[in-house]
Amino acid sequence: MLDVPKSADKSYADGKILQSVAEGVGTVTFNNPDKRNAMSLDMWEGLGAALIELRDDPEVRVVILTGAGDKAFMSGADISQFEKNRHNAQASEEYGKRSDAQRALLADYPKPTIACIRGFCLGGGMQIAMLADIRIAAENSQFGIPAAKLGIAYGYEGLNHLVSLVGPSWARLLLYTGMRIDSAEALRIGLVDRVVPDTELWNATSDIARTISGNAPLAIQAAKITIAQVLKDPDKRDMKAIKAIGTACMDSDDFREGRRAFMDKRKPRFTGR
Ligand code: COA
Repeated sequence: MLDVPKSADKSYADGKILQSVAEGVGTVTFNNPDKRNAMSLDMWEGLGAALIELRDDPEVRVVILTGAGDKAFMSGADISQFEKNRHNAQASEEYGKRSDAQRALLADYPKPTIACIRGFCLGGGMQIAMLADIRIAAENSQFGIPAAKLGIAYGYEGLNHLVSLVGPSWARLLLYTGMRIDSAEALRIGLVDRVVPDTELWNATSDIARTISGNAPLAIQAAKITIAQVLKDPDKRDMKAIKAIGTACMDSDDFREGRRAFMDKRKPRFTGR
């Protein structure tokens, strides 16, 4: 069993973004618990730096995103920065560019990602959680997009993900009201994939992460690439990318290892080649 990372291998944004690696699993922790892990611009940039490092670390096969403390995954963007950095359309565009770049990194991330959610998951926190491949939530979690309570437009990318997960009707209900829903409702509408008791959240998430990290990386990449293409409009799909990863997979050492290990009745040792 993986322990909740107690210390970071590396930190960014004055310790407000933590990064660690254990047993092939990278973890990024939003560490601003006094503000319910609200994200400042420095934290967005720190998140990007941590994601790049974990992406380029060959030891890392899957990445968990989580929040420090027991109150929040993330309460969204740090509203105290809005007066200075996001007070009108032009300032918002500049602000957006700095955080968009990090979200784009996550949207195109080549390794599987899991959001491990406890407590509040709001606004930009929902966006991050929806960009992850998989969402595991504690029973105590609450979800919402309070954009209409602040006068903010939530943007195409965020809504694209929301609509594809929960459908247009729930997306409207959440956006028009700014209401918060609990884990049970989030599970029912497809916003999260699994809900577990609060005390079991980390173990449940790290079990899934370790299972993924023990599987064949190319086969996982094939699934990730193909599912991403399925979600695109038909004319935007990159069928060549699907073919290329399929070929790489079926010609791989790992495919040979997988079938031999099965015949030998032993656990396979995958290398990602
Ligand atoms: N930005 C900046 N500060 C935030 C924040 C955010 N997104 N979310 C919480 N905080 C701060 C609060 O201002 C408070 O600061 P203080 O201790 O200096 O007064 C502290 O975090 C604790 O928040 P509090 O509201 O007292 O805790 P709570 O447990 O009662 O409620 C929330 C937590 C997350 C529900 C509530 O803080 C909230 O609604 N936050 C804003 C969420 C939001 O609108 N996000 C979208 C941003 S685009």
